[in-house]
Amino acid sequence: MSVPRQKYLSSVWRDGIFADKVLFCTGGAGTICSMQVRAFVALGGNACIIGRNVEKTEKGAEDIATVRSGSKVIGIGGVDVRDPKALQAAADRCAKELGGIDFAIAGAAGNFLAPMAQLSPNAFKTVMDIDALGSYNTTKAVLPYLVESAQKYKNIGSSQPTGTGGRMIFISATFHYKGQPLQAHVAAAKAAVDQISHSVAIEYGPYGVTSNIITPGPIANTEGVERLSKTDPKSMKASMKRIPLGRYGEVKEIADATVYLFSEAGSYVNGNTLVVDGGQWRTSGAS
Ligand code: HXC
Repeated sequence: MSVPRQKYLSSVWRDGIFADKVLFCTGGAGTICSMQVRAFVALGGNACIIGRNVEKTEKGAEDIATVRSGSKVIGIGGVDVRDPKALQAAADRCAKELGGIDFAIAGAAGNFLAPMAQLSPNAFKTVMDIDALGSYNTTKAVLPYLVESAQKYKNIGSSQPTGTGGRMIFISATFHYKGQPLQAHVAAAKAAVDQISHSVAIEYGPYGVTSNIITPGPIANTEGVERLSKTDPKSMKASMKRIPLGRYGEVKEIADATVYLFSEAGSYVNGNTLVVDGGQWRTSGAS
């Protein structure tokens, strides 16, 4: 008699794995995050995306909803992640309208390229506030809901999977691993983001919540890469040469990483970083 497949293999990327689950995502109308949300919704989930720009966020939600008929995707615009009250109100509205929050992505970020000499204290603080404080505010707003969800779905790993919940992903960068010119503010902010994720993993693991980081490398057709190509084409070309896989990533590859971490297959991954960069950061600094 053969061993049932579920004993050694999780069924991921299967229609309906996120059925009736809810994802809360800050920066959800951005290129990378909207693809993460899209994948989640395509696989059965509902979502709430948060953004500063009302029109962009509402249009983004409408667009994501088209991936699966019957899906519910709410776009809450006018919310700045630097404002904890607005963020909490958005999380509460999401939970009320969609029935809880099972997954969260802290994806909102602010960035620009600037040499330190041209970086004012306020410029540095602005990026720290959006990326680091914003991720912290997001965490605080969603954690009670994630704990509730983790408790509900804690019987993962049984031969009759009931699905997953209580998972958080932070979007970070590799700038702070080795240092990066023109990115002192972002490197500092992302280092803080990483530590927030690690703290959630340790403090909330006992409640069944997992927290991990996805670190996208250079991803084609994103605001970051386009901006970098315009502002600093020389170093962009050089960095392309350093990517061991020899190409930019695709947003879909970040979405796949997200599905993995949110799926049964990722149930024992906690406090970790999934770098999706074709191996680039390991060669950064090399000629
Ligand atoms: C130097 C700059 C600057 C620049 C702004 N500042 N742009 N300093 N070089 N290019 C300074 C301002 O002069 C001001 O300092 C301070 O930063 C705050 O600027 P505001 O415009 O008042 O801030 P705000 O309206 O809150 O806008 C935040 C922002 C903006 C980060 C500056 O770019 C933004 O809203 N970005 C959101 C979208 C975004 O960046 N997405 C990229 C994500 S991609 P003073 O001293 O004058 O008061 C990503 C991947 C990495 O993160 C990609 C690598 C490029």
